[in-house]
Amino acid sequence: MSALVVVGAQWGDEGKGKVVDVLAEQAHVVARFAGGNNAGHTLVVDGQQIITHLVPSGCRYPGTRCVLGAGMVIDPDVFRKEIEQLRARNLLQADELRVSLDAHVIFPFHRLVDGLREDSAGDARKIGTTRRGVGPAYEAKAARRGVRVRDLLRESDLRERLLKNKATLDPELHRLGAPESALDVEALVELGLGWGQLLRPMVCDAGALCHDAIRSGQRVLFEGAQGALLDLDHGTYPYVTSSNSIAGGVCTGIGIGPTLIDRVWGITKAYTTRVGGGPFPTRLLGEQGTRLREAGAEYGATTGRPRDCGWLDLPALRYAARLSGMDGLCVTKLDVLALLPKVEICESYEDDLDPGRDGFEHVVPRLRTLNGWGDPSLAAQLSAPGLRAAERREDLPGPVRAYLDLIEEHTEVPVVLVSVGPDRAQTLRFADAF
Ligand code: IMP
Repeated sequence: MSALVVVGAQWGDEGKGKVVDVLAEQAHVVARFAGGNNAGHTLVVDGQQIITHLVPSGCRYPGTRCVLGAGMVIDPDVFRKEIEQLRARNLLQADELRVSLDAHVIFPFHRLVDGLREDSAGDARKIGTTRRGVGPAYEAKAARRGVRVRDLLRESDLRERLLKNKATLDPELHRLGAPESALDVEALVELGLGWGQLLRPMVCDAGALCHDAIRSGQRVLFEGAQGALLDLDHGTYPYVTSSNSIAGGVCTGIGIGPTLIDRVWGITKAYTTRVGGGPFPTRLLGEQGTRLREAGAEYGATTGRPRDCGWLDLPALRYAARLSGMDGLCVTKLDVLALLPKVEICESYEDDLDPGRDGFEHVVPRLRTLNGWGDPSLAAQLSAPGLRAAERREDLPGPVRAYLDLIEEHTEVPVVLVSVGPDRAQTLRFADAF
């Protein structure tokens, strides 16, 4: 087995960064296929927290090649800072980063438009984007006026693309009150050419790189960003991101065929969170939601926004598992659930509605309180060093095992890994990734 896809099974923030970081130790290549610096992947290395937004989470292993695929949108200023930060910690060697020539580039005017649109939308219509320019950059790509990494290497192509963007966006920028200089093409050409210098040593055909690596028996890990329910086509549209975050996104976003993929693992928290607007059936308002947010430190890694929190939604998880054809589930933050006085779960919706068929807008969850949780000793059991050393499902406390059984029963996907704390050591693995 040499190609593994790891994707989010909820609305993002499932703990993919940590899981990928753990699994990447065995990988020769870690590649991202979608999204941009709207993502924030939190890693804990030697007790220190590192948040990456663009560089794949495998960046800390010497020799592991980190690839940014064509399906991504890249803000080169953010990328540059991230590289500097990682290198300052000796975490990224010079030769390890590769960027697809076909990835698209986020310019400051994309960020500006993103923010101004959000500001001008009424509360009911706000998407609650991360304001990083991700949506406008994908919009330009679909409209065939996007700037790709390869365009940064040829001044005439770059200027032509920027002029097209100016013609399209100037009226809107003007209406939204942006300064006249927002789309100064010559200044942007200069900026873009500078970025070209930064990226030139890293550019590649990411599809060929991954294809050849898999074909030669290397282990390749495809790292998802966001989650299934934020997928542009299959998520809670229009409250979604602008790319395909499900496993199918690997094929288009990297440029390889589906027959090369061996496994798809989905990551889910033991409960659910969401940032930004849009439906969230099991959302907890009031004190219960606050308690869960505080217990899980649920604040956005990218924007710092407080995340809405709620119980695990099994119909939604089943839907996500189907969308990506998951054959393994990783359940994170079980330790957080153990801190709560009561735990509930949603096994179905009223009127037996189905998220795939009926959407998420109008469903009402049927909640059930679970036995055995709320015992203060549960959290202590999960943090006991002996548990980590054993790495056996039988060693987990009874209520936790029953919880995992319930997840498997509803999703028909085996639980292959659980995380019981932020540190890499606080991970139990029940199956091989490769
Ligand atoms: P955008 O991707 O910045 O356009 O934001 C669109 C929606 O996706 C908003 O609801 C964001 O909060 C959400 N979103 C984007 N990236 C992430 C992420 O990495 N984690 C969680 N939510 C995200």
